[in-house]
Amino acid sequence: MKTQVRIKKMSKDISKKIFIKTFGCQMNEYDSNRLYDTLNKIGYKKTLNQDDADCYILNTCHIRDKAKQKVYHEVGRVKKLYINKKKPVVIIAGCVAQAENQEILKREPYIDIVIGPQSYHKINKILTNFNPKEKIEETDFDTIQKFVYFDKIKNNNSKVSSFLTIQEGCDKFCNFCVVPFTRGPEYSRSMKIVVEEAKLLAKNGSKEIILLGQNVNAYQDGSNKLSHLIIELEKIPEIKRIRYTTSHPKDMTEDLIDIYKYSKKLMPLIHLPVQSGSDKILKLMNRKHTINDYLEICEKLKKINPNLEFSSDFIIGYPGESDQDFKDTLEVVEKVKFINSYSFIFSPRPGTKAANCKLIDKKISLERLEIIQSLLFDNQLNKNKSLENKTLNILVENLAKNKKYVFGRTEFMTPVIFEGTKTDIGKILPVKIKTSNRSTLFGEKIRNSDKRVA
Ligand code: SAM
Ligand code: SF4
Ligand code: F3S
Repeated sequence: MKTQVRIKKMSKDISKKIFIKTFGCQMNEYDSNRLYDTLNKIGYKKTLNQDDADCYILNTCHIRDKAKQKVYHEVGRVKKLYINKKKPVVIIAGCVAQAENQEILKREPYIDIVIGPQSYHKINKILTNFNPKEKIEETDFDTIQKFVYFDKIKNNNSKVSSFLTIQEGCDKFCNFCVVPFTRGPEYSRSMKIVVEEAKLLAKNGSKEIILLGQNVNAYQDGSNKLSHLIIELEKIPEIKRIRYTTSHPKDMTEDLIDIYKYSKKLMPLIHLPVQSGSDKILKLMNRKHTINDYLEICEKLKKINPNLEFSSDFIIGYPGESDQDFKDTLEVVEKVKFINSYSFIFSPRPGTKAANCKLIDKKISLERLEIIQSLLFDNQLNKNKSLENKTLNILVENLAKNKKYVFGRTEFMTPVIFEGTKTDIGKILPVKIKTSNRSTLFGEKIRNSDKRVA
């Protein structure tokens, strides 16, 4: 008994604190949580205080420009936070780490370790043997070993809506994109392991699973594809909603389209980035599909379920984009009526084919961005206005900032705020929408369910 108490006390004494600041996509968020899980094994406990950590990790994103500068700026901020305190071990992780590797260590001596996304399975060893006088760079593409390692570590990050990475990397090589270089080749996790992880998340309270991958619909484990995985996940009774992101139009195969005929849990919003509405630009981007291919996919899906909606990403001002190309993009927005979208001005990324292309005038890009965003925002606003006075099924995720209210989402991912309590969290409740703005719906919980619309 005494020995047990002593061991408990010792492990408390040696426990160190770790803080991770995460940038970029949902896959980085998933990774950060998995890093917390593994570092816990060597005594690091998660802290929410930025200025109170023994180890500070910046999980970075390299997708658009200024990514590098952002890292050095953040490190400058960390230096200030710890000016009168013991210096934490500073680690740069994520896609900037992968892309810049040694360069980061040379430029900023305050950084101790640089580790790429496919080397995270080595982090415990690195930290256990860490010598403050040494600098460490670990950026191998060791994806298989990474997942073999993480598959054995419990995912302790159940939320009502949980991310679950099923696929990593990209073999598509769009001419503008760094992902194939920062995340390496496509790799899919075993379906059996993914289902086990989903079951664990469900057991610990998850009601919604968001399957993640840089090209999630390229998922393939032997003969099993994303559609097969969805069928398996549907069998988990606690899981009420399933989503996947981000998909590539090329991988929107018939089996995946077909599944919308049968699935009871697959949500009716599909994030399917089109990037541009012009065939010429799609070709220059190396997207490997035409705008007709894209529209046909949307049509097929709409035929199966007219309630399905789409969201997209757009790159504006891609090298070679003429007024007509931009008009074609606006036309696609009008046709598909995306209910939520992200639009960015093209950002030349080092190492990509488009990096050295002649840029179009910045002023023109900015004007186009303003035009497309205003159209996309109008669509969003109109969609939300059309939902006023309707009753929607809302999965409650959290208490809102004002604790008298709760935060949830519609089946289309739109945030909803309404009066509620902690006991509502994790439930799907009928909520009558009273008012709305572009991004959020505001409603009232109802008892006798009105007619369901979404
Ligand atoms: N795999 C997804 C696909 O094929 O649509 C995209 C993943 S990428 C991480 C997310 C988004 O970032 C892309 O859809 C694209 O719109 C945007 N993006 C990527 N590279 C960019 C660049 N060089 N400049 C501007 N936006 C970029
Ligand atoms: Fe990047 Fe294209 Fe791969 Fe998407 S499909 S991650 S945009 S290279
Ligand atoms: Fe950024 Fe890497 Fe994700 S570049 S968008 S964090 S895959």
